[in-house]
Amino acid sequence: MAEVAGKTKRPGSLVDRSKSLFATNRRLHEQISHLVTLQDVAQALSSELNLGRLLDRIVRSAAGLLHAPASSLLMVDESTNELVFEVVLGEKGDYLRQRRMSLNEGIAGWVAINGVPTIVNDVSKDCRFNRNLGEYDDFKTISILAAPLVVKGKTIGVIEVLNKATGPFTSEDLHWLEALASQAAIAIDNARLYQDVSDERNKLITVQEDMRKKLARDLHDGPAQSLSAIAMGIDVAKKLLEVEPGRVRDELESLRALAIKTSREIRTLLFELRPLMLEAQGLGPTLRCYVERLDGTEGLSLHFDALETVGRFPPEVEATIFAIAQEAVSNVRKHASARAVWLALERQEHLLTLSIRDDGKGFDLSSVESNYEERGSFGLFNMRERASLIGASLEIRSAPSQGTAITLKVPVPAGERGALAASA
Ligand SMILES: Nc1ncnc2c1ncn2[C@@H]1O[C@H](COP(=O)(O)OP(=O)(O)O)[C@@H](O)[C@H]1O
Ligand SMILES: [Mg+2]
Repeated sequence: MAEVAGKTKRPGSLVDRSKSLFATNRRLHEQISHLVTLQDVAQALSSELNLGRLLDRIVRSAAGLLHAPASSLLMVDESTNELVFEVVLGEKGDYLRQRRMSLNEGIAGWVAINGVPTIVNDVSKDCRFNRNLGEYDDFKTISILAAPLVVKGKTIGVIEVLNKATGPFTSEDLHWLEALASQAAIAIDNARLYQDVSDERNKLITVQEDMRKKLARDLHDGPAQSLSAIAMGIDVAKKLLEVEPGRVRDELESLRALAIKTSREIRTLLFELRPLMLEAQGLGPTLRCYVERLDGTEGLSLHFDALETVGRFPPEVEATIFAIAQEAVSNVRKHASARAVWLALERQEHLLTLSIRDDGKGFDLSSVESNYEERGSFGLFNMRERASLIGASLEIRSAPSQGTAITLKVPVPAGERGALAASA
């Protein structure tokens, strides 16, 4: 009997062993397939620089990897301390996209604040769960697996997958989501940096384009018209020679004055276009020369106050500061009906300050800034853009009949800080 009993047991253990071998095999198979997916994802993510497409890809990969019908990616908005649903895959997509929730809310908020992943297999028993966002029409959240997206020790977002189709989420699932999240976070950081760089480049292109338009306008309104007037004046002088020669001398005198004025206008335009002096001698001397050139023209007196020893800065910083001064002065000449404008350049250890103040009629800054599209001219806007390109702040203060004051504060690059002492 014992033998019989033994016999009945042995085949059973063989079956058990082969069952467990089969299970191990399946698990290994699954792990390999997860690894392959993860490797594909890592490769795809590292080559995607468009942020929108990248986020979409991450969410799809997460849902695919974990057999989940819904998944979403939320990014931290540091300015408001909120999480924003950037990509939502699944039935709730349209309802949730771009919705915001406080960092203190929901399971995603908890993950973002604590910087650790979490598994919740029954959300109805979890007090962190936010019912307003998790349940919508027919869609019901049952389980959530969420991991933080961490870059250089900082949580920039959260990725979640919902309602796994093949059973509860396991700690192994969590491990896979974390692996995906760490790849995704690096890719997002890269794409953001790339976007920042291309935004800056677009700003530069816009600024240059506007400069070209301004030059064309200035050439058209100034020298081109003066030259036509000179040509007409010469015709008049020729006729006068025949009918009233005594007046020719006066006519020629006024033509000469116009020619001198035109030549001065062209030189000033050339100077504005590319002040060679800026490269050779730096900001202080160049601004002084610019002010002296324009002083007294069109009834406006210009003053400049600076120590000649403000030091030297990288060429793009000097060129940008000069361009901002030019736009400010050109606005005073065009719009302010001012008697005087004062420019001042002041250098402290960590800060270079340029101010341009006029005693003209002033203007309502908020109404100008809210009407850019309609007006189609972008002088003040470009000043701000230029300032931001060199990490400077720009303050514009103006009020009707109170004049205008513009203050540009440029942080001195670390390498240049000793330069003041060296050049003083
Ligand atoms: N110093 C100033 N004094 C008076 N008004 C000014 C001054 N600077 C700018 N403005 C007003 O702001 C407007 C916008 O200036 P800007 O953006 O440079 O464009 P644009 O000079 O081409 O008109 C001007 O049209 C003018 O009404
Ligand atoms: Mg302007």
